[in-house]
Amino acid sequence: VTPKITILPDNTSVSVRRGTLVREALERAGIAIIYPCGGKGRCGQCRIRFAEAAPKPGSSEQMLLSRSELKNGYRLACRAKIERAATISVPQEVRQAPEGRILSSLGKQVDVKPLVRKIFLILQPATIQRQHSDYDLIHSALRSRGIPITDWTTTALQALPSALRRKDHSITVTLAGTTCIAAEAGDTSKHLVGCAVDIGTTTVAAQILDLNTGKERATVALLNPQSKHGADVISRIQWVRENPLHLRVLQEEIVACINRCIEILCKRARVEPGEIFHLVAAGNATMTHLFLGVTPEFIGVSPYVSAIREGHQFKTTELGIRLHPEAIGYTLPNIGGFVGGDTVADMLVAAIAESDALRCVIDIGTNGEVVIGNGQRLLATSAAAGPAFEGAQISHGMQAGPGAIDGWACDSRLRFTTVGDRPAAGICGSGLVDIVAELLRAKGADASGRLQVPKRAGPSVGIRCLARRIEGSSRGVRLLVASKAEGAKRNIYFTQNDVRQLQLAKGAIATAIELLLMEYGAAAADIQALYLAGAFGNYIRKNHAQRIGLIPQLPLDRIHLIGDAALEGAKLVLLNTEYRDAAERIARQTEFIELAGRADFQDAFAANMSFPSQ
Ligand code: FES
Repeated sequence: VTPKITILPDNTSVSVRRGTLVREALERAGIAIIYPCGGKGRCGQCRIRFAEAAPKPGSSEQMLLSRSELKNGYRLACRAKIERAATISVPQEVRQAPEGRILSSLGKQVDVKPLVRKIFLILQPATIQRQHSDYDLIHSALRSRGIPITDWTTTALQALPSALRRKDHSITVTLAGTTCIAAEAGDTSKHLVGCAVDIGTTTVAAQILDLNTGKERATVALLNPQSKHGADVISRIQWVRENPLHLRVLQEEIVACINRCIEILCKRARVEPGEIFHLVAAGNATMTHLFLGVTPEFIGVSPYVSAIREGHQFKTTELGIRLHPEAIGYTLPNIGGFVGGDTVADMLVAAIAESDALRCVIDIGTNGEVVIGNGQRLLATSAAAGPAFEGAQISHGMQAGPGAIDGWACDSRLRFTTVGDRPAAGICGSGLVDIVAELLRAKGADASGRLQVPKRAGPSVGIRCLARRIEGSSRGVRLLVASKAEGAKRNIYFTQNDVRQLQLAKGAIATAIELLLMEYGAAAADIQALYLAGAFGNYIRKNHAQRIGLIPQLPLDRIHLIGDAALEGAKLVLLNTEYRDAAERIARQTEFIELAGRADFQDAFAANMSFPSQ
């Protein structure tokens, strides 16, 4: 049986075998959509809508889509299977953009206009009568195409004479802005890739992109090897202070890590490192300093100034990065204090500086950053949230790697999901948020964060399931999150101390939001769009983030999950120079607000440690 699928608004049809995934049916119909989690049913972004008779939702769909979405026929293209003839609408924002344009994670079309580009030329050789130099030949050919060129690097010039003659005066020149940085024989214009990097305190994520089409070729994430010298930026700064030679060690480690990322990416995408001409990196202020080999010592002490606020352009060979020998590197600018290029990247993705309405961007990583504002005024601060949301300092916490519980519910029965559908090994950020939200719902924890056995005779059916899982032991009250009998690798618990760690983390973020709003003279309800970025940004349930008081009570459609926006922002800068200009403007305009020294900080923080009572 081959049911016929009609796809709207394209109005194209395709017949597929019963049991075919919607994803495969769409691919057969030539409709490309974006699968941010690689089609693993974890991000909930690949939403399509069945006009009628939608298939029964699977467990990830029940987890990731709201009840009303499910009722209205929304399903995940990477999970839903075709059982009968159907009409499926594929919304614009989930589709991939045509060649030469990309769609940002928020569905905005971005033209591909990178700093580095290749131009293929076929030239008339000079003659005795027309004795033009090689250099002149190239300049006049480019001028006639309206392409400005001002200078050459020495290595490009050294390559020019033989490159020009090797293939009959057909030559490809590579321009970085208006500087010629390479000359290659023949047409190599299709081989041009760039690399975007998010230098996180804990994780380094990198991606290579085709600079002609804007398409992603490969992505990788590795642990930042500097972690062994301290989990957070403060301890790494202290380590540098102990001995100036440590700066060199930290720089070499991050460069080696980026080189390793490049090696893996090149293998995956089948490109040579020599084809990579541009690298754009976004990191917090400390990571950016360490990457450039500039001491971050003075960021950590009053008056908290960085060595450089502007974005920095350099030759990647200067830092030992193995790409094309003339490749250009660029680090995004810093705002102030610990708030750096990764936050600027988030702000680009959230388009906060282009907005008239008030927006808020929150990045939760090893540290937290909060920005509030719009095109008129922008305020930023950092929140010492600690790495609890990354699973650190939580007894059975872990990063969002294979086996991490990333979704958890206990209403009529226990349900949980893990990264990669592997046996549960620990709990990552989004799982922690779910657990606390469930504890609060079923009164397994009170507003002060005290764990308790809920009264079983409560009105909600969910209470009994949860009550059975809370146990008192000599070490205090704890919640059994998943047991060996339920498929976990070991019994996984969530303890009283874990609640406290989460309260500290969410209290720091909530305080930063509250005080920035106060400084701006606005109320939480004035926020028209709130963007949540960070490692778990794509997976967290918005209503649960609100339930635990991490973010303000706003209508859910004003909250947008933007995942690893630092990498996404670096990618925007890599693909279009207008974003680089915008990044520099944003960094200059944004006012850095130091919260810790404020008289009202401690009171606000103490109040924000509690959970909202509902
Ligand atoms: S791509 Fe389908 S849920 Fe992530």
